[in-house]
This record gives sequence, structure tokens and C-alpha cells, in this order.
Amino acid sequence: MDVSELLTIEHDVLVIGAGGAGLRAAIECSSQGLSTGVISKSLLGKAHTVMAEGGMAAALGNADSRDNWKIHFRDTMRGGKFLNAWRMAELHAKQAPARVRELQEWGAVFDRTKDGLINQRNFGGHRYPRLAHVGDRTGLELIRSLQDHGIHQGIDFHMECTALELLKDEEGRIAGVAGYWRDTGRFVLFRVKTVIMATGGGGRCWPVTSNSWEYTGDGLAMAYDAGAELMDIEFTQFHPTGMVWPPSVRGTLVTEGVRGEGGVLLNNKGERFMFNYVPERFASETADTVEEADRWLAGEEGTRRPPELLTRDVVARAIRAEVEAGRGSPKGGVFLDIASRRDAEAIKRKLPSMYHQFRELAEVDITKEPMQVGPTLHYFMGGIRVDHDTQMTAVQGLFACGECAAGLHGANRLGGNSLSDLIVFGQLAGKGAGEYIKALEKAPHVEDDPIKEAFRRATAPLNRETGENPYLIQEELHEIMAQHVGIIREGEEMREGIKKLEEMASKIENVKAIGASQYNPAWHQALSVRSMLLVSQAVAMAGEMREESRGAHTRVDFEGEREEWGKVNIVVRKAADGTMELEKIERPEPAKYLSEIGYADIDDLESGKVGADAPEE
Ligand code: FUM
Repeated sequence: MDVSELLTIEHDVLVIGAGGAGLRAAIECSSQGLSTGVISKSLLGKAHTVMAEGGMAAALGNADSRDNWKIHFRDTMRGGKFLNAWRMAELHAKQAPARVRELQEWGAVFDRTKDGLINQRNFGGHRYPRLAHVGDRTGLELIRSLQDHGIHQGIDFHMECTALELLKDEEGRIAGVAGYWRDTGRFVLFRVKTVIMATGGGGRCWPVTSNSWEYTGDGLAMAYDAGAELMDIEFTQFHPTGMVWPPSVRGTLVTEGVRGEGGVLLNNKGERFMFNYVPERFASETADTVEEADRWLAGEEGTRRPPELLTRDVVARAIRAEVEAGRGSPKGGVFLDIASRRDAEAIKRKLPSMYHQFRELAEVDITKEPMQVGPTLHYFMGGIRVDHDTQMTAVQGLFACGECAAGLHGANRLGGNSLSDLIVFGQLAGKGAGEYIKALEKAPHVEDDPIKEAFRRATAPLNRETGENPYLIQEELHEIMAQHVGIIREGEEMREGIKKLEEMASKIENVKAIGASQYNPAWHQALSVRSMLLVSQAVAMAGEMREESRGAHTRVDFEGEREEWGKVNIVVRKAADGTMELEKIERPEPAKYLSEIGYADIDDLESGKVGADAPEE
């Protein structure tokens, strides 16, 4: 291969991923006059961002004026079981309102209060109605607004273009990306000064997921291979409510907005079983009778929130337990009922996508009958370890934001905190990349050899005579992850899973795609199974190492949180010999005002007895 003949595109910044985080980062870069490219494995507008349907969390205080950043911060830390990066949770809670208002200026058409302000709805774990929303299509509206703004700002979009590997110069700085167009198979070399990774998570490693085909963990794998660290990767979120039927759409998200609008969960005896699953930590803030929960939904002061609005980890485990106990619905989930709680017009107005989704995919009219739902792999809390303020990784010139970055959510993410995460940390990553470029004395340059090697590795599955079928490999991986690294985990089971994953590695080294590189989905699959394996191994190994139950990570052999594990994050990196290395790292001490707010009694925080002197910057 002659590198000088390769199609070569130059940018200051290349953003990999065109979801909310990637788009917001790209806007920030191009607004600084940087030449900015965005590559996207699929078409614009098709990111997992659209699966955050119910809203974006920001303490605007429009629906309840008592809300402010400190309460949002406290809710986020409690939801994350205090494993969150304190500083990131602070930045997020403080900056989310400005980012949401900015979206409004850029044309996002939010639902409104009677006074014309951005309306906000209830979601699990949020003390006040906090989710700015557009019916149940909020992620879509976020993407639409950012795309519209970005295109008019001169960003170059390269669609259906897959990144293969990150390329570095001799000093170890990011200098390029090797990629290819999925339709023609044509290779492309991007020569760049920085890369912002915004590729989302790796939900596709499990068979039941809300993630679409793109989410194979490529960004996590590329960053890991380039020398970045993965953190908190054992924490994978099962959203409590995915469709359970028909099989072709199993896992498709059913927004938490249904419960936010008053929907309730029922078992096959018609019981609101969530009252039986309230953890001690949330008992004082959760209603203990149906009557009180309903009075809270009607807005009555002094009442407590319904247990259906507990955090996702709690609700997902409760649904699983009901099904295991034989109290599930006929299709293997539980019932989610909004029909008997809101009139048909209100359901269609507030939850239009759910109405259509169930009518078209399951022939269920949700204004008349309950849905059947069960947990679906939805989100990675962990990801690439970043600097909290700039979002730079351990690799010079490599930044990460959104779902593929770790820190904000700790052991469990609150619903609605992902859309605000995308716009807050997308903006910060763009700013960080701009500052890095300004400080560069000389542009990094990648030599020819690493470029040739990257493309040779990519064509290997096409060039071997025989080998393993990439589709069967994915099926096998699914089975292992479902059986060994699911919603409830156990040490011996995970160790067996890790062994099976190790055995798969040699199969993946020998994967074969029949045909040429043009229009060849088997080749795409052959390339992505390697990322999926790597991510699966990281999740399984970190999960096996964390000997406690915290947030989304539930161990039957280590029940409950353990104090010593609250002091550490698990970091996964590639060792010098190429093996996967895990390390427990001490968590940084929080600023005093943050720990006071995080652990505050809610009345003390609301009365100003705690947190009054916290900086507002
Ligand atoms: O349920 C939902 O609408 C999902 C929101 C989220 O994951 O943030």
C-alpha cells in the first residue's frame, strides 16, 4: 500500500460519533474557528441519543421553583451510590440549565408550562420534576437542533464512515484516524491534531438491549488500544422497561416518561409490587401507600413520591424478582399500566411515540390496555477515563465525552441525566480540544508504517482463506454475556464467563468475511466483534473484581455496599505485553462543600443550613 495514494482528509479535530455529545463537541470546536469533521458509522440522526426519550435533566426550577443545582447534584450522587466523580457531578448540575436554554435558542421546541416556560416532568431519583422534554421524543429533538445548528456552522459530516484505529505520532500524541466508508469499502486516512471520542456504549454485547446495531463498543476499544484507561466499566445499566414482545423488537425502550406521567407497574396478581422493594436509603422519601403515591402525583404538598420512581437499578431488580417468582406477565415481563391512570388524549399528547410504538410493533393500544415490559441493557455508566474539567484522556490529544466517557454517573445513572451529560461534557470536550490545539507547538504527524499496519489488520478477515463466521461469534458472545454477566452476578459464574470469552479470542483472531470490501455487512461484523469481545472482557473482569453490590452491579455472593469499595474505582488498561490489566485506584477526595451537599439531610439543604456558601461559578 502506498500511503500517498490513500484518500486523505485533514482536520484540526475529528469527532467520532454523531450523537448528542459528538454534535455538541463539534459545534464548540467549529465555533473556535477549528476545522472540524464528524464521522458517523450510520446516518445522521440515528444515534442512541434518540433512545433517551423522556427528557433532559436540568434544575431550571420551572415546574417547581424549589429546585436548584445543589439538589440535582445530591440526587445524582445518591443515584450513583457516591461512586461518581464529584467534580463532574458538580459541573453537570451547574451547567445543565445553561446548555438546555442554549438548545432552546437554537430551535428546540420544548413542551411548555402554562406560563410559556420549558416544562419539566418527573423521573426516577429526581426530587423535583426536572426533565425538560418534547413529549417522549426529547433525544430526537436534541439531535435535530444540534444538527441544524452544526450544519450551518460549517462542520464537515462524513456519514456511514467507520473509524478503525487511532493513529499516534512518535511522541504518543494523536495524529490521525484510519477509517473506511461502509458502502464502498474505500479506505480513508484522517490527519488530525485531536480526536474527540463520542461513540456511546456497547449495549450490543447483550442479546436484549435498547441499543441499535452501531453500539458495539468501538470507541471504547479504540481508546483502550491507543493507551487510554477504562473506568467503572462493570456498571452497566438495565433500563427496567423494555418491550418483551414480539421477539423482533424485544429490548426496545419504553420510556421512563410513562412512569413519570403516572404509569404504574403491576404483577400478574394486579399488585403494585414496587411497594415491596423500597431500599432503606430511600424509605423516608418514598410513599408507603397507594393513596399517598397518588396524592403526590396530583401535586399534594407533604406527600412522598411513588416507588415506581425509584432509581433504575432498584426497579429493574424488582421486575426480575417478580418474574422469577412466577408473578410475571404472559410474555415474560410485568405490566406497565398508563391506560387506567390517564385519559387517552393525555396519553397520546405526552407519550406519542409509545402509543405508536406499541400499536405498530405489538398491536397493543396503550390507551386501553397495559404494556408488558422487562429490563433491557440500556447504558454504560463506565467508559473512558477523562480529566474532569477538560475531558482529555491519558492519551495526549484524545478526548472523550458522553456515554463513552466515565465519571458522572458512578454506579447507576439517573434517567434524564444522559441528555444533559451529552451537552454539558460535549461542550467541555470541545473547549478542552481547542485549548490543547492552541498550546501545540508543532502539529503531530503519523508515519507511514502504523497507517499501513492499521489497514492490513482491517483487511485480514477478507484475505484469509477460511475462518470463523462473524455472525455466529456474535451469537455466542450474546449467550455468554446473558448467562454470565447479566443483571444479577456471581463470582464463579463470571469466572466461567471470562474463561469462555478468552476462548473466543482465538476465534475472533481467525474470523472470516466472505466476499470483497464493497457493500459487505459480514466484513463490518467481523471488524466489530473484536470491539465487542474486548468490551465484554473488561465488563466481566471488572465485575468479578468488584466484590460488593452497588447500583447497577448486583452480586449474589457479595450483598450490599462495602465501605472499602466505595473508596476505589476500577481502571482497566492494556499492559505492555498486550494483556488486559486491572487496577483499583483511590478516589480523589471531594471539595468539602461538595461532600457536605452530597450527604446532606434534604431539609438542611433546602433550608440553606447546608451548602449556602458553595461557589456558584
Ligand atoms: O426512559 C427514557 O426515556 C430514557 C431516558 C434516559 O435514559 O435518560
